[in-house]
Amino acid sequence: MATEAIVSDASAVPVPPTARDAVAILDYGSQYSQLIARRVREANVYCELLPHDVTPQRFAELNPRGVILSGGPASVYEPGAPLIPDFVLESGIPILGICYGMQLLAYQLGGKVAPSSKREYGPASLHRATSDDSIFYGLPDSFGVWMSHGDKVTELPPGFEIIARSDNSDFAAMADLKGRVGIQFHPEVVHTPLGRDVIKNFLYKVCGCEPTWTSGNYIERAVNDIRTQVGDGRVICALSGGVDSAVAATLIHEAIGDQLICVFVNNGLMRREEPERTVATFGKHLKFNLRAVDAVDRFLGRLNGITDPEEKRKIVGSEFIRVFAEEARALGSIDFLAQGTLYPDVIESTAPETKAASKIKTHHNVGGLPKDLPFRLVEPLRYLFKDEVREVGMALGLPEDMVWRQPFPGPGLSIRILGEVTEERLEMVRGADWVVMNEIKHAGLYREMWQSFAVLTPIRTVGVMGDFRTYGNMVALRMVTSDDGMTADWARVPYDVLARISNRIVNEVPGVNRVTLDITSKPPGTIEWE
Ligand code: XMP
Repeated sequence: MATEAIVSDASAVPVPPTARDAVAILDYGSQYSQLIARRVREANVYCELLPHDVTPQRFAELNPRGVILSGGPASVYEPGAPLIPDFVLESGIPILGICYGMQLLAYQLGGKVAPSSKREYGPASLHRATSDDSIFYGLPDSFGVWMSHGDKVTELPPGFEIIARSDNSDFAAMADLKGRVGIQFHPEVVHTPLGRDVIKNFLYKVCGCEPTWTSGNYIERAVNDIRTQVGDGRVICALSGGVDSAVAATLIHEAIGDQLICVFVNNGLMRREEPERTVATFGKHLKFNLRAVDAVDRFLGRLNGITDPEEKRKIVGSEFIRVFAEEARALGSIDFLAQGTLYPDVIESTAPETKAASKIKTHHNVGGLPKDLPFRLVEPLRYLFKDEVREVGMALGLPEDMVWRQPFPGPGLSIRILGEVTEERLEMVRGADWVVMNEIKHAGLYREMWQSFAVLTPIRTVGVMGDFRTYGNMVALRMVTSDDGMTADWARVPYDVLARISNRIVNEVPGVNRVTLDITSKPPGTIEWE
C-alpha cells in the first residue's frame, strides 16, 4: 500500500498563537530542554523549542521577546561546539543562559570558561551577591538549587557582574545591564524548588512578557487559524475516543461546524461501553457530523487465529486504514485530514539529528493512507504539550472522563489478550478491565497513574469456588506510574484496593479464577505485555 498520501502543508500551518509575547528556547541537547519549555508555558508565556542553529528567518517568525539557552553536554572549547548564533547575540533581545548556555554567553562575549577540578552534581546552595537583580526578584538571600556541570565560568565577560555564588563557585550567576543573564544551575527541574520563580522573573521582569498564554486565548486564536486555513473546505477526522483526537476535533468543530466530518471505527477491541460513550458524546451530545462504523466482524475476522503480537498490531493498523479510506472515499471530496499531533511529536521530528528529514510523524492513527486520498493536514494541537491539551479540552467543555483518560493503545485489547483474540476472551478482559478502572477511580488513583489495566493470560489454573473445583484463566494487573510512557514504575497500590480488585474480578468475570500483580518496572519490562 502506498504511504505517501498525507502531505504536510507547511505553508498552511497556522502561525503560533500569541506570537506577540513569545520566547525562543535554543536547544543545545540538554535532557531538560522540553522541561524548560513546559515551565515557560506554565508561566503562561508562549515559547518554542528551536534548534541551536535556527535560521534567522525562523527566529524572526517567532518574534521572541526573550531567548533561553538550554544546557547541553558539549564543552565550549571543543571543536565544533554548538554556539549562540551571531544574529541572536546582536539582536539586543534578553537572553537567559542555563548551564552550558551560561558558559556560551561567557565564552562568546569575552569571558573565560574552564574545566572544573570538581564536577558539581546535585543539590547546592545559591547565595545572592546583590539584592537588585531582576532574575532573583523576591527570592531569599540564599536558596537551594540543582547543579549538573563540569566546566564553569572563571572570568566574566566585559559588562557582566556576579549576582550569585555557590559553595563551589564564585560564578554561579551573572548578569549585565542589557538583560543578559547566565545561571549555572537548572531552574527547570523540581530539585530547584524556587526555579519556577526564576523563570517567571526572566519572563516578566527581564523580558517584559505578559502572561497571555492561556487556554481561552489559545482557543480563540486556534479557531481563527483553522477557519483561515480550511476556508470552505471539508475536513475528515478519525475519532479514537482518546483525548488528543477528541480535543482536536472539538476545536475544529468550534471553527467550522459541519464542514468537519468525524469517523469513529468500532474495531471490537475497545473497552466496555467505550464505543457507545464516544458515539453518545460526539454524535448525540456535541452534535458532530459523525459517521460511526461498525467494523467489529472485519477486525475479528482478520485476527482469527493470530497469536503473534506484532502481527496483531499490523493487522489492526492496516484494517483501520482500509476502513477509514473507504469511508473517506464514500464522502466524496475531502480536502483536509485532522490529526492530533502534539508539540513533543513536532519537536522530535525536527530535532537536530533528524532535521534534514524534517517530516510530520504519521505514527498516529491514520499514517499511510493510499495515494488517491491526498489530504492536507490540520493539526490544531501541534503547539501544545499534553497537559495543555487537557486544559483546552476542559475549557471546551469536554467531559472530564474523556479529557483525563489514560492512554490506550491503537491495537486496543488485542494486545492485552495473550494468544488468540476471540469474542469470549475479549469479554473476559473487558470484565476485568472494567473492575480495575472502577476500583482505581473509586480509590481516587486514576489520574495518579499513567495506566492501569488487566491483561488476560493464556495460563489456566485450578481454583475452588463454593464446593466446586474450577479450572479458569489467570489475569494480571498492570498498573504503572510514568511521565511519558518511555520509562515507568509499577504503582504501589494500597493492599485493600488490590484486594477489592482481585475479589471482584474472580467473582464477577466468568472464566477468571486467579489474579496476579505485575511488579516489573520499565525498563526492563514494557508497559503492555505484548
Ligand atoms: P510499552 O508497552 O512499549 O508502551 O511500554 C508504552 C506506551 O505506548 C503504548 N503502546 C501503544 N500505543 N500502539 C499504540 O497506539 C501500539 O502498538 C502500542 N504499544 C504500546 C502503551 O499503552 C504505553 O502507553
